[in-house]
Amino acid sequence: MPVIEIANLVKRYGELTAVNGVSLEINEGEVFALLGPNGAGKSTVVEILEGHRDRTSGDVSVLGLDPGKAGAEYRDQIGIVLQSSGIEDELSVLEALDVYGASYSTRRDPMEVLELVGLADRAQDRVSQLSGGQQRRIDLALGIIGTPKVLFLDEPTTGFDPSARRQSWELIDGLRDLGTTILLTTHYMDEAQHLADRVGVIVGGEIAVIGTPAELMDATGDTVVRFQVPHGANTDGLRPLGAVVEGIAVSCRTATPTKTLHELTSWALAQGVELFDLTVSRPSLEDVYLQLAVSDAQPSPAPDMPETRGQQ
Ligand SMILES: Nc1ncnc2c1ncn2[C@@H]1O[C@H](COP(=O)(O)OP(=O)(O)OP(=O)(O)O)[C@@H](O)[C@H]1O
Ligand SMILES: [Mg+2]
Repeated sequence: MPVIEIANLVKRYGELTAVNGVSLEINEGEVFALLGPNGAGKSTVVEILEGHRDRTSGDVSVLGLDPGKAGAEYRDQIGIVLQSSGIEDELSVLEALDVYGASYSTRRDPMEVLELVGLADRAQDRVSQLSGGQQRRIDLALGIIGTPKVLFLDEPTTGFDPSARRQSWELIDGLRDLGTTILLTTHYMDEAQHLADRVGVIVGGEIAVIGTPAELMDATGDTVVRFQVPHGANTDGLRPLGAVVEGIAVSCRTATPTKTLHELTSWALAQGVELFDLTVSRPSLEDVYLQLAVSDAQPSPAPDMPETRGQQ
Protein backbone atom coordinates (compact mmCIF):
# COMPACT_ATOMS: atom_id res chain seq x y z
CA MET A 1 0.00 0.00 0.00
CA PRO A 2 1.61 3.29 -1.07
CA VAL A 3 1.56 5.87 1.68
CA ILE A 4 3.42 8.47 -0.35
CA GLU A 5 2.43 8.96 -4.00
CA ILE A 6 4.15 11.45 -6.25
CA ALA A 7 3.19 11.80 -9.93
CA ASN A 8 4.94 14.12 -12.39
CA LEU A 9 5.99 16.54 -9.70
CA VAL A 10 7.49 19.77 -11.03
CA LYS A 11 8.84 22.71 -9.06
CA ARG A 12 10.21 25.79 -10.72
CA TYR A 13 11.94 28.71 -9.07
CA GLY A 14 11.78 31.38 -11.74
CA GLU A 15 13.85 30.05 -14.63
CA LEU A 16 15.24 27.14 -12.69
CA THR A 17 13.47 23.79 -12.78
CA ALA A 18 14.50 22.29 -9.45
CA VAL A 19 12.21 19.23 -9.74
CA ASN A 20 11.47 18.06 -13.26
CA GLY A 21 8.75 15.41 -13.40
CA VAL A 22 9.46 13.16 -10.44
CA SER A 23 7.15 10.17 -9.98
CA LEU A 24 7.56 7.89 -7.00
CA GLU A 25 5.57 5.66 -4.67
CA ILE A 26 6.66 4.75 -1.17
CA ASN A 27 4.89 1.92 0.61
CA GLU A 28 3.69 1.69 4.17
CA GLY A 29 6.53 0.78 6.52
CA GLU A 30 9.18 1.35 3.88
CA VAL A 31 12.42 3.27 4.47
CA PHE A 32 13.22 5.14 1.26
CA ALA A 33 16.46 7.10 0.78
CA LEU A 34 16.69 9.92 -1.71
CA LEU A 35 20.29 10.43 -2.84
CA GLY A 36 21.77 13.01 -5.16
CA PRO A 37 24.32 15.79 -5.42
CA ASN A 38 23.94 19.24 -3.88
CA GLY A 39 21.13 21.10 -5.59
CA ALA A 40 19.60 17.98 -7.14
CA GLY A 41 16.16 18.77 -5.72
CA LYS A 42 15.99 16.40 -2.72
CA SER A 43 14.96 18.98 -0.13
CA THR A 44 12.50 20.54 -2.55
CA VAL A 45 10.71 17.19 -2.99
CA VAL A 46 10.74 16.51 0.75
CA GLU A 47 9.49 20.00 1.64
CA ILE A 48 6.62 19.72 -0.86
CA LEU A 49 5.62 16.43 0.80
CA GLU A 50 5.82 18.05 4.21
CA GLY A 51 3.48 20.82 3.03
CA HIS A 52 6.21 23.41 3.56
CA ARG A 53 6.56 24.29 -0.10
CA ASP A 54 4.15 24.79 -3.00
CA ARG A 55 4.53 22.82 -6.19
CA THR A 56 4.37 24.13 -9.72
CA SER A 57 2.50 21.07 -11.05
CA GLY A 58 1.98 17.37 -10.47
CA ASP A 59 0.08 15.28 -7.95
CA VAL A 60 1.21 14.51 -4.43
CA SER A 61 -0.54 12.45 -1.80
CA VAL A 62 0.66 11.40 1.66
CA LEU A 63 -1.60 9.23 3.84
CA GLY A 64 -4.34 9.97 1.32
CA LEU A 65 -4.06 13.73 1.83
CA ASP A 66 -2.66 16.50 -0.36
CA PRO A 67 0.09 18.10 1.75
CA GLY A 68 -0.42 21.38 -0.13
CA LYS A 69 -3.95 21.65 1.23
CA ALA A 70 -3.95 19.54 4.38
CA GLY A 71 -4.01 21.11 7.81
CA ALA A 72 -3.70 20.06 11.42
CA GLU A 73 -4.99 16.54 10.80
CA TYR A 74 -2.09 15.97 8.41
CA ARG A 75 0.60 17.57 10.59
CA ASP A 76 -0.51 15.40 13.50
CA GLN A 77 0.47 12.27 11.56
CA ILE A 78 3.86 13.31 10.22
CA GLY A 79 7.26 14.01 11.75
CA ILE A 80 9.77 16.32 10.17
CA VAL A 81 13.50 16.82 10.48
CA LEU A 82 14.35 19.75 8.22
CA GLN A 83 17.79 20.13 6.68
CA SER A 84 18.26 23.29 8.72
CA SER A 85 16.06 23.75 11.72
CA GLY A 86 15.32 26.79 13.78
CA ILE A 87 14.73 25.70 17.35
CA GLU A 88 14.38 28.42 19.97
CA ASP A 89 17.81 28.03 21.46
CA GLU A 90 16.96 29.81 24.72
CA LEU A 91 14.71 26.88 25.67
CA SER A 92 16.06 23.94 27.60
CA VAL A 93 16.27 20.67 25.70
CA LEU A 94 13.29 19.26 27.61
CA GLU A 95 11.27 22.47 27.14
CA ALA A 96 11.91 22.32 23.39
CA LEU A 97 10.45 18.82 23.30
CA ASP A 98 7.48 19.93 25.40
CA VAL A 99 6.76 22.95 23.20
CA TYR A 100 7.11 21.14 19.88
CA GLY A 101 5.40 18.00 21.14
CA ALA A 102 2.38 19.84 22.52
CA SER A 103 0.63 20.00 19.15
CA TYR A 104 0.61 16.23 18.68
CA SER A 105 -2.29 14.10 19.87
CA THR A 106 -0.14 10.98 20.35
CA ARG A 107 3.02 12.22 22.00
CA ARG A 108 5.93 10.09 23.14
CA ASP A 109 7.37 10.64 26.60
CA PRO A 110 9.98 13.41 26.16
CA MET A 111 12.53 11.74 28.46
CA GLU A 112 12.18 8.47 26.56
CA VAL A 113 12.81 10.31 23.31
CA LEU A 114 15.88 12.04 24.77
CA GLU A 115 17.12 8.63 25.85
CA LEU A 116 16.64 7.37 22.29
CA VAL A 117 18.72 10.18 20.77
CA GLY A 118 21.37 10.03 23.51
CA LEU A 119 20.58 13.37 25.13
CA ALA A 120 18.97 12.29 28.40
CA ASP A 121 21.80 13.79 30.44
CA ARG A 122 21.39 17.18 28.70
CA ALA A 123 17.64 17.56 29.35
CA GLN A 124 18.02 20.68 31.51
CA ASP A 125 20.69 22.41 29.41
CA ARG A 126 19.81 25.23 27.07
CA VAL A 127 19.70 24.27 23.42
CA SER A 128 22.26 27.03 22.70
CA GLN A 129 24.78 25.30 24.95
CA LEU A 130 24.80 22.13 22.87
CA SER A 131 27.27 21.31 20.13
CA GLY A 132 26.16 21.25 16.48
CA GLY A 133 25.82 17.48 16.42
CA GLN A 134 23.94 17.49 19.72
CA GLN A 135 21.52 20.13 18.39
CA ARG A 136 20.97 17.94 15.35
CA ARG A 137 19.99 15.13 17.72
CA ILE A 138 17.31 17.45 19.18
CA ASP A 139 15.99 17.90 15.64
CA LEU A 140 15.72 14.13 15.38
CA ALA A 141 13.98 14.01 18.79
CA LEU A 142 11.46 16.62 17.62
CA GLY A 143 10.83 14.59 14.49
CA ILE A 144 9.72 11.54 16.45
CA ILE A 145 8.07 13.12 19.52
CA GLY A 146 4.60 12.90 17.94
CA THR A 147 4.70 9.17 17.09
CA PRO A 148 4.42 9.97 13.38
CA LYS A 149 3.08 7.51 10.82
CA VAL A 150 5.31 9.12 8.20
CA LEU A 151 8.69 10.59 9.05
CA PHE A 152 10.65 12.93 6.78
CA LEU A 153 14.35 13.15 7.54
CA ASP A 154 16.38 15.62 5.47
CA GLU A 155 20.05 14.76 6.08
CA PRO A 156 19.29 13.72 9.66
CA THR A 157 22.81 12.65 10.63
CA THR A 158 24.92 15.39 9.05
CA GLY A 159 27.40 16.51 11.70
CA PHE A 160 27.02 13.36 13.80
CA ASP A 161 30.09 11.60 15.11
CA PRO A 162 30.39 7.97 13.99
CA SER A 163 28.89 6.50 17.16
CA ALA A 164 26.00 8.97 17.16
CA ARG A 165 25.31 8.04 13.55
CA ARG A 166 25.21 4.33 14.45
CA GLN A 167 22.93 5.14 17.34
CA SER A 168 20.55 7.03 15.08
CA TRP A 169 20.56 4.12 12.62
CA GLU A 170 19.37 1.90 15.46
CA LEU A 171 16.69 4.46 16.26
CA ILE A 172 15.52 4.54 12.63
CA ASP A 173 15.61 0.72 12.45
CA GLY A 174 13.46 0.67 15.58
CA LEU A 175 10.93 3.08 14.02
CA ARG A 176 10.80 0.88 10.94
CA ASP A 177 10.01 -2.09 13.16
CA LEU A 178 7.10 -0.07 14.54
CA GLY A 179 5.79 0.34 10.99
CA THR A 180 6.76 3.98 10.45
CA THR A 181 7.15 4.98 6.80
CA ILE A 182 10.37 6.96 6.43
CA LEU A 183 11.66 9.16 3.63
CA LEU A 184 15.20 10.31 4.21
CA THR A 185 17.84 12.14 2.27
CA THR A 186 21.50 11.57 2.88
CA HIS A 187 24.94 12.09 1.37
CA TYR A 188 26.27 9.04 3.23
CA MET A 189 26.16 5.97 1.03
CA ASP A 190 26.78 3.64 3.96
CA GLU A 191 23.76 5.17 5.68
CA ALA A 192 21.55 4.56 2.64
CA GLN A 193 22.92 1.04 2.28
CA HIS A 194 22.30 0.25 5.93
CA LEU A 195 18.88 1.85 6.35
CA ALA A 196 17.05 1.95 3.06
CA ASP A 197 14.72 -0.69 1.70
CA ARG A 198 14.86 1.26 -1.56
CA VAL A 199 17.00 4.07 -2.86
CA GLY A 200 16.27 6.71 -5.48
CA VAL A 201 19.04 8.78 -7.02
CA ILE A 202 17.87 12.20 -8.16
CA VAL A 203 20.02 14.17 -10.59
CA GLY A 204 19.12 17.57 -11.97
CA GLY A 205 15.57 17.30 -10.61
CA GLU A 206 14.93 13.94 -12.27
CA ILE A 207 15.03 10.42 -10.88
CA ALA A 208 18.05 8.72 -12.46
CA VAL A 209 17.57 5.29 -10.90
CA ILE A 210 15.40 3.56 -8.29
CA GLY A 211 15.84 0.18 -6.66
CA THR A 212 16.92 -1.70 -3.59
CA PRO A 213 20.59 -1.14 -2.69
CA ALA A 214 21.27 -4.74 -3.79
CA GLU A 215 19.52 -4.20 -7.14
CA LEU A 216 21.54 -1.07 -7.79
CA MET A 217 24.78 -2.80 -6.91
CA ASP A 218 23.90 -5.86 -9.00
CA ALA A 219 22.73 -3.79 -11.95
CA THR A 220 26.23 -3.36 -13.32
CA GLY A 221 26.95 -7.09 -12.98
CA ASP A 222 30.56 -6.12 -12.46
CA THR A 223 33.10 -7.21 -9.89
CA VAL A 224 35.88 -4.95 -8.66
CA VAL A 225 39.37 -6.32 -8.02
CA ARG A 226 41.53 -4.02 -5.90
CA PHE A 227 45.11 -4.27 -4.68
CA GLN A 228 48.25 -2.25 -4.06
CA VAL A 229 51.62 -2.64 -5.72
CA PRO A 230 54.98 -1.79 -4.13
CA HIS A 231 56.25 1.79 -4.62
CA GLY A 232 58.24 2.07 -7.84
CA ALA A 233 56.79 -1.05 -9.44
CA ASN A 234 56.47 -0.85 -13.23
CA THR A 235 52.71 -0.91 -13.81
CA ASP A 236 52.76 -0.45 -17.60
CA GLY A 237 51.53 -4.00 -18.10
CA LEU A 238 48.41 -3.44 -15.96
CA ARG A 239 46.57 -0.90 -18.10
CA PRO A 240 46.15 -3.25 -21.08
CA LEU A 241 44.40 -5.58 -18.62
CA GLY A 242 41.79 -2.90 -17.95
CA ALA A 243 43.20 -1.78 -14.61
CA VAL A 244 43.11 1.78 -13.30
CA VAL A 245 46.35 2.72 -11.55
CA GLU A 246 46.31 5.59 -9.06
CA GLY A 247 49.71 5.79 -7.35
CA ILE A 248 50.16 2.39 -5.74
CA ALA A 249 46.41 1.66 -5.73
CA VAL A 250 45.09 -0.46 -8.56
CA SER A 251 41.46 -1.27 -9.31
CA CYS A 252 39.93 -3.25 -12.09
CA ARG A 253 36.22 -3.56 -12.92
CA THR A 254 35.37 -6.75 -14.68
CA ALA A 255 32.47 -8.91 -15.76
CA THR A 256 34.80 -11.95 -15.79
CA PRO A 257 36.56 -11.92 -12.43
CA THR A 258 38.15 -15.37 -12.72
CA LYS A 259 39.87 -14.48 -15.98
CA THR A 260 40.86 -11.03 -14.75
CA LEU A 261 42.31 -12.41 -11.50
CA HIS A 262 44.29 -14.96 -13.49
CA GLU A 263 45.71 -12.24 -15.73
CA LEU A 264 46.53 -9.93 -12.84
CA THR A 265 48.21 -12.58 -10.72
CA SER A 266 50.12 -13.85 -13.78
CA TRP A 267 51.37 -10.31 -14.33
CA ALA A 268 52.40 -10.08 -10.67
CA LEU A 269 54.25 -13.41 -10.73
CA ALA A 270 56.05 -12.45 -13.95
CA GLN A 271 57.06 -9.10 -12.43
CA GLY A 272 57.95 -10.69 -9.10
CA VAL A 273 55.70 -8.25 -7.17
CA GLU A 274 53.27 -8.99 -4.37
CA LEU A 275 49.65 -7.76 -4.66
CA PHE A 276 49.03 -6.26 -1.24
CA ASP A 277 45.52 -5.92 0.20
CA LEU A 278 44.04 -7.90 -2.67
CA THR A 279 40.23 -7.82 -2.55
CA VAL A 280 37.49 -8.99 -4.87
CA SER A 281 34.12 -7.36 -4.28
CA ARG A 282 30.92 -6.10 -5.82
CA PRO A 283 30.77 -2.39 -6.59
CA SER A 284 29.56 -0.53 -3.51
CA LEU A 285 26.55 1.74 -3.59
CA GLU A 286 29.07 4.59 -3.67
CA ASP A 287 30.70 3.12 -6.81
CA VAL A 288 27.27 2.93 -8.45
CA TYR A 289 26.41 6.47 -7.37
CA LEU A 290 29.67 7.88 -8.69
CA GLN A 291 29.23 5.96 -11.92
CA LEU A 292 26.04 7.91 -12.55
CA ALA A 293 28.43 10.88 -12.82
CA VAL A 294 26.08 12.76 -10.63
CA SER A 295 28.56 15.23 -9.24
CA ASP A 296 28.71 17.25 -12.48
CA ALA A 297 25.00 17.32 -13.10
CA GLN A 298 23.07 20.55 -12.86
CA PRO A 299 19.31 21.09 -12.81
CA SER A 300 18.06 21.83 -16.31
CA PRO A 301 16.67 25.30 -17.06
CA ALA A 302 12.97 25.46 -17.85
CA PRO A 303 12.39 25.75 -21.61
CA ASP A 304 9.14 27.74 -21.76
CA MET A 305 8.19 29.40 -18.56
CA PRO A 306 4.52 29.09 -17.73
CA GLU A 307 3.28 30.93 -14.71
CA THR A 308 4.97 29.57 -11.59
CA ARG A 309 2.81 28.94 -8.61
CA GLY A 310 3.73 30.03 -5.11
CA GLN A 311 7.48 30.39 -5.31
CA GLN A 312 8.99 30.30 -1.87
N1 LIG B 1 13.77 29.21 -2.35
C1 LIG B 1 14.48 28.98 -3.46
N2 LIG B 1 14.53 29.89 -4.44
C2 LIG B 1 15.21 29.67 -5.59
N3 LIG B 1 15.88 28.52 -5.84
C3 LIG B 1 15.86 27.58 -4.90
C4 LIG B 1 15.18 27.76 -3.66
N4 LIG B 1 15.33 26.63 -2.92
C5 LIG B 1 16.09 25.81 -3.65
N5 LIG B 1 16.41 26.37 -4.83
C6 LIG B 1 17.20 25.75 -5.90
O1 LIG B 1 16.60 24.52 -6.27
C7 LIG B 1 17.58 23.55 -6.52
C8 LIG B 1 17.33 22.32 -5.67
O2 LIG B 1 17.55 22.66 -4.31
P1 LIG B 1 17.37 21.61 -3.13
O3 LIG B 1 17.53 22.36 -1.85
O4 LIG B 1 16.10 20.88 -3.33
O5 LIG B 1 18.61 20.64 -3.40
P2 LIG B 1 19.12 19.39 -2.51
O6 LIG B 1 19.12 18.22 -3.41
O7 LIG B 1 18.37 19.32 -1.25
O8 LIG B 1 20.64 19.82 -2.25
P3 LIG B 1 21.58 19.59 -0.93
O9 LIG B 1 22.17 18.23 -1.08
O10 LIG B 1 22.62 20.65 -1.09
O11 LIG B 1 20.74 19.78 0.28
C9 LIG B 1 18.93 24.20 -6.29
O12 LIG B 1 19.48 24.59 -7.51
C10 LIG B 1 18.59 25.41 -5.44
O13 LIG B 1 19.48 26.48 -5.68
MG1 LIG C 1 18.85 19.50 0.68
